Amino acid sequence: MSDRTLWEQAQEAAAVVRSRCAVIPRIGIVLGSGLGPLAERISEPIIIPYDQLPHMPLSTVAGHSGRLLAGRLAGQDVLMMQGRVHYYEGYSPQQITLPIRMMQQLGVRVVIITNSAGGINKAFHTGDLMLITDHINFVGLAGAHPLRGPNDDRLGERFPDMSRAYDAELLELARRVGRQQGIRFREGVYAIVSGPSFETPAEIRMLRALGADAVGMSTVPEVVVARHGGIRVLGISLISNETVDSFEAAAQPSHAEVLEAGQASLPRLESLIEGVLQQLILN
Ligand code: HPA
Repeated sequence: MSDRTLWEQAQEAAAVVRSRCAVIPRIGIVLGSGLGPLAERISEPIIIPYDQLPHMPLSTVAGHSGRLLAGRLAGQDVLMMQGRVHYYEGYSPQQITLPIRMMQQLGVRVVIITNSAGGINKAFHTGDLMLITDHINFVGLAGAHPLRGPNDDRLGERFPDMSRAYDAELLELARRVGRQQGIRFREGVYAIVSGPSFETPAEIRMLRALGADAVGMSTVPEVVVARHGGIRVLGISLISNETVDSFEAAAQPSHAEVLEAGQASLPRLESLIEGVLQQLILN
């Protein structure tokens, strides 16, 4: 653990970005498992590998390359995290959300957070895109919460509201883009579990009974920290696999399947994100 406060850590990481980028984007994008190729859509990016950013936790999972890109995408300046770290890798909730704190310090106003998730809702299929309307923070409810510990009032308030964590205007914008592009979305509740093991059939049935439509191992800590810091959030899940809810079910989720589904659905996710960027007006 660093002896620096979270504020100082985020400042030091942000300072490196400021020193490299002439323009500091006000839109952040976090790419999930298998979604890294989206970074290639940025024209002439400034690329900063995470190991050049002080305090940045480094990814230990295949499929997460771990670098920050700054550049133009669909007419906007964006700051893109290609690869993220997860709680199951052994990092604390505070560490995994440092990139969001860094964005906050840089003045980012909107963040588009993506992930690959298992479908819990029986109507969902592999390759579907789901707009996240709400979440269940299993990991955080159990105490592994990124805001646990003394609150730094410079970063946000002690008891932040999560009743509208996913920005209504951004959701409406994404729906409009979907209609314009003829992309059909799902919408639903994302539940975070710690992982790294996939869920048992009983756990999947429990998650369904509790109101989850999709399950994954990321995103929620980032969303909580973004909201704490006043950043507006659009969350998008790519349903990379159908989850197993009985011993008879044929499917068995694997990391390879998660990555593969990402490849197939990437063009739709790309056009959704680019459509949102084209029409997004920052206020
Ligand atoms: N479970 C948990 N996390 C996941 C899954 C899953 O089935 N697929 C992608 N991330």
